[in-house]
Amino acid sequence: MSKFSVALVFEDGRCEHIRVDEDDTIYLACLRNKIRILTDCLEGACATCKAHCVEGDYDLDDVSEEALSEQELEKRLVLTCQMHPRSDCVIEFPYASKLAIKQEPKNWTCKVISVEKVSSTVKRLDLEINRNQGDYLAFLPGQYVNLSVPGTTALRSYSFATSPHDLEKVSFFIKVIENGSMSSYVNDRAKVGDSITMTGPFGHFYLREPVRPIVMVAGGTGLAPMLSMFDHMIESKTALYPIRLLIGANEPSDLFYLDRVENYKSAGLSLISEVAVVKGNSNWSGKVGHITNFLRDELVQEEADIYLCGPPPMIEASERWLIEKGIDQKFVHSEKFVPSRV
Ligand SMILES: Cc1cc2nc3c(=O)[nH]c(=O)nc-3n(C[C@H](O)[C@H](O)[C@H](O)COP(=O)(O)OP(=O)(O)OC[C@H]3O[C@@H](n4cnc5c(N)ncnc54)[C@H](O)[C@@H]3O)c2cc1C
Ligand code: FES
Repeated sequence: MSKFSVALVFEDGRCEHIRVDEDDTIYLACLRNKIRILTDCLEGACATCKAHCVEGDYDLDDVSEEALSEQELEKRLVLTCQMHPRSDCVIEFPYASKLAIKQEPKNWTCKVISVEKVSSTVKRLDLEINRNQGDYLAFLPGQYVNLSVPGTTALRSYSFATSPHDLEKVSFFIKVIENGSMSSYVNDRAKVGDSITMTGPFGHFYLREPVRPIVMVAGGTGLAPMLSMFDHMIESKTALYPIRLLIGANEPSDLFYLDRVENYKSAGLSLISEVAVVKGNSNWSGKVGHITNFLRDELVQEEADIYLCGPPPMIEASERWLIEKGIDQKFVHSEKFVPSRV
């Protein structure tokens, strides 16, 4: 049994998980999995196989100073032909997956086990993954998959809202929009037992090892990947730093899972959350305005990892503010829920 799980993330967002023995190099383990990462000398001299190990421990065999400088070593750049993992790792490659992988991304056949309304505009879709499909599902908290829309040829992207440790059942939060293909399915026709194909996982928006405070801004169903991240932090006992979570919605009735967010606090997360709605009502005594209006210096006084997820205007406004504040972009991770073009 191979020892470590290594996630390979390519520039186009495709993510493949492989098992790697301690004695293996990443290059050899990739080959066994029919992944031909770019290489040339295989001796640590040419730097063709250079990549970035974002997370995890590793050793490198022979690497020449020309192929990998001291500064690059410090930044956790690696030569994958010389790299042996010493724990689970995440490695980012600076090129598109099609240069290394001929097979299509993995598919899983799933069965709808429940569809539940969680707010006036959001439905939760729970899927059970059919067993006996050979490959094991693995994803990083924050990533997404493409789901088939039953009865159509459409595919739509949704972020996992559940823990990557729970692979029997996965959940997604879907905002219901008028005349949307997936929206109409979950709103009007979805029933228990329907078959849905899930393809992936994908995405650069995933939880980095929590080694500093975290600031998150979630707009609407942009809360989904944050829930996956929280579950993971609790289950892997890596929730050691304070987290500030800003949640935005259009109206109070759009909000969902605020009680679940509260529960994370008693489950061990040092989490402070705040909520704002664009349009309040007579029962709403909370903040009113776009959630990005509530970004303030105090949140970024200390170096923090920043996660932004939701509608493109919210991400763009947050990014503008962070740039104005001089925040180093390497700490900023974002996922825009852009509408599909097919
Ligand atoms: C990486 C990624 C992850 C995503 N994760 C999630 C998620 O977890 N939850 C989630 O709810 N969505 C998510 N989305 C958005 C999702 O993929 C769909 O685009 C969305 O659910 C609409 O799909 P639909 O089939 O219902 O509508 P479509 O059939 O795609 O659209 C119907 C019409 O509505 C327009 N439209 C699409 N989206 C909107 C919108 N938000 N507001 C107004 N008009 C719109 C379209 O341009 C089109 O004219 C994600 C998108 C990406 C790229
Ligand atoms: S292939 Fe040349 S350094 Fe790895």
